[in-house]
Amino acid sequence: MAKARAVYVCQSCGYEHAKWSGKCSGCDEWNSLVEETRGGEKPASSLKSGPSLRAGYGAEGGMEPVRMADVELVEHNRINSGISEFDRVLGGGFVPGSVVLLGGDPGIGKSTLALQVAGDFAGRGLDVLYVSGEESLSQLKMRAQRLRIEADNVWVVGETSLERVEQRLRDKKPDMMVIDSIQTIATDQLTSSPGSVAQLRAVTSALTQSAKGLNIPTVLIGHVTKDGAIAGPKVLEHMVDTVLYFEGQPGMNYRVLRAVKNRYGSTNEIGVFEMRSTGLKEVHNPSAMFLAERPDNASGSAVVPIVEGTRPLLVEIQALVSPNNYGPPRITSIGVDQTRVMLLLNIIEKRTGLKIAGQDVFVNVAGGARVNEPAADLGIAVALLSSYLDRPVPGNLVVFGEVGLTGEVRAVPQAAGRLIEAKKLGFERGMLPRGNVPAIEEVTTPESAPFDGFKLEFARTLADLIREVF
Ligand code: TYD
Ligand code: MG
Repeated sequence: MAKARAVYVCQSCGYEHAKWSGKCSGCDEWNSLVEETRGGEKPASSLKSGPSLRAGYGAEGGMEPVRMADVELVEHNRINSGISEFDRVLGGGFVPGSVVLLGGDPGIGKSTLALQVAGDFAGRGLDVLYVSGEESLSQLKMRAQRLRIEADNVWVVGETSLERVEQRLRDKKPDMMVIDSIQTIATDQLTSSPGSVAQLRAVTSALTQSAKGLNIPTVLIGHVTKDGAIAGPKVLEHMVDTVLYFEGQPGMNYRVLRAVKNRYGSTNEIGVFEMRSTGLKEVHNPSAMFLAERPDNASGSAVVPIVEGTRPLLVEIQALVSPNNYGPPRITSIGVDQTRVMLLLNIIEKRTGLKIAGQDVFVNVAGGARVNEPAADLGIAVALLSSYLDRPVPGNLVVFGEVGLTGEVRAVPQAAGRLIEAKKLGFERGMLPRGNVPAIEEVTTPESAPFDGFKLEFARTLADLIREVF
């Protein structure tokens, strides 16, 4: 066995250094290096021993290549989580034996979501093993009561030892397992502390093998953390099948579940939830939520259908352009990129002759939503112009399109889907890029006329937009 030696591992990105240093050369994080021992003990097993990768290998470790055409497809019988927004993000439910990493900031609602999924399994008579290394069982019970969860088939255990978790798993053979959180579980095979990169990798690798071996869908909860002593879920992303992040804005009740990796589905879907006193409630119609408090007839507000993954979503973009009397003019934006706002202001000035320079400009996406699609350009421009000209945007209008440097309005993807969502919510007019005409014609047939009773206006330039809207 090799002699033990010390290495310094960044707890943020996993980069290994031979010498200690204040700053990680992998990710530039400060004070994130922690000493770990290598070589003296059995190294943490890694991907190479995963059963799914080993399958098909002969005794000599060699495998004859097979024709792609001859490879047999394995059909996955998915198990619904019972929460359709969650299933959507998974790609249609859990694949047996798959491992899902559920990451997010502390307090965002990961345990709540996992417990609700567990409750739904239990409600259908399926057994769930919930391993809690974070909270006491009575805290868990209190939460379960608040969430009105069917407790009969949910088995809880307060445990932080990997070996004992594996034992419980083999004994119980549940239909689903939750580990809350992966950072609290440690193996006694390693000397490094719980939550370190080495522990996280070893524990995740072992639990992944157990899950696959016993065919149990598993949710691993991982905190996103800035603290150097505990590693984040990032270092585990390559080891699991699916990585979901649960996100929210400070002070806002809505939460977005996003897939950033999915071996069994697309990474484009999002699920939207609202945190209530009785737990997470699915939001099937997020557009209505984001538009709930839209003012009537106020200048500086525009509704834009953005696309999150494959899902069109209406958001309200607000702008305030006001003369600056207190020093150098400022541009402030929340929910949209400030550079984009600056660029649009310059394009508007140059291409329309309006003099906006020297004013303070604020742009905000209502409800705390985030917009980073070029398709929102036209909406931002309309909100800015509306505030500057002090003329309201018609309340029944939605606007979208990318704005180029010469003031031209460029086609964007999924034009028809955006308009259909707008129509569903009672909007009656859409202004969109001229270049999107073919996309609209494609979905308009004699049998289906999705835009009947909906007025479509096509803009080629910013000037067209100003003429039509104001
Ligand atoms: P939690 O699931 O514990 O977050 P995480 O596991 O990601 O750290 O949820 C934390 C917050 O959610 C907590 O501040 C209280 C709030 N909450 C509700 O508003 N309603 C509820 O029904 C529950 C269970 C939690
Ligand atoms: Mg928790």
